[in-house]
Amino acid sequence: MSFYENHVLPFVIDLACSMQPIMDLRSQVVPRCHGTVLEVGAGSGINFALYNPATITKVYALEPSEGMRQKAQKNLSRSPVPVEWLGLPGEQIPLADNSVDCVLLTYTLCTIPDYATALKQMHRVLKPGGQLFFCEHGRAPDADVVKWQNRLTPTWKKWAGGCHLNRPIADYIREAGFSITEQENNYMDKAPRFVSYMYYGLAVKI
Ligand SMILES: C[S@@+](CC[C@H](N)C(=O)[O-])C[C@H]1O[C@@H](n2cnc3c(N)ncnc32)[C@H](O)[C@@H]1O
Repeated sequence: MSFYENHVLPFVIDLACSMQPIMDLRSQVVPRCHGTVLEVGAGSGINFALYNPATITKVYALEPSEGMRQKAQKNLSRSPVPVEWLGLPGEQIPLADNSVDCVLLTYTLCTIPDYATALKQMHRVLKPGGQLFFCEHGRAPDADVVKWQNRLTPTWKKWAGGCHLNRPIADYIREAGFSITEQENNYMDKAPRFVSYMYYGLAVKI
């Protein structure tokens, strides 16, 4: 990993992903997780403080980047719930079939290179009827915005850790065998539209 990926990017991602409008969306999703949770691409651990300790047994925080895991140390030390790191990518989840109650995905599906394999892995480790909570940004509904998302993604992903601006998040989740039971979408206020079309809600393993 380069100096940029190990030291600069974790700082930038942590800052960008802690903006208040993003924190407001996270707080609608993260506290709903319960039991044994797999958080995929846990990053700098921003979500740790938002879990409800009364309903969480344990969080497996899967995060392949050592730089991000380092950046997460402060949030880990203050975590109200037990967290165990899994230093692997979402394409290789090292957990048994049907073993977790919930999967949490926040601002990560945009980045995972083989998102289809990773989603299949999430589906595999969830118990039957298990819940996938998501809060992501992705492809906008407006053609003029999508045009810019497509134009900018090749350059954007070089500097943003592999982040794609134009992924149709809900389609990917459904294609992996989930049923989306709750979904909200909107552009986030005070942010450029190419990066701020949000998808958040709940999908269930079928
Ligand atoms: C934009 S950050 C979001 C971090 C965190 N989920 C949050 O909400 O703040 C994307 C994260 O995905 C991680 N990531 C990159 N490739 C991944 C992969 N193949 N599997 C799982 N996570 C990955 C990155 O290291 C990074 O921490």
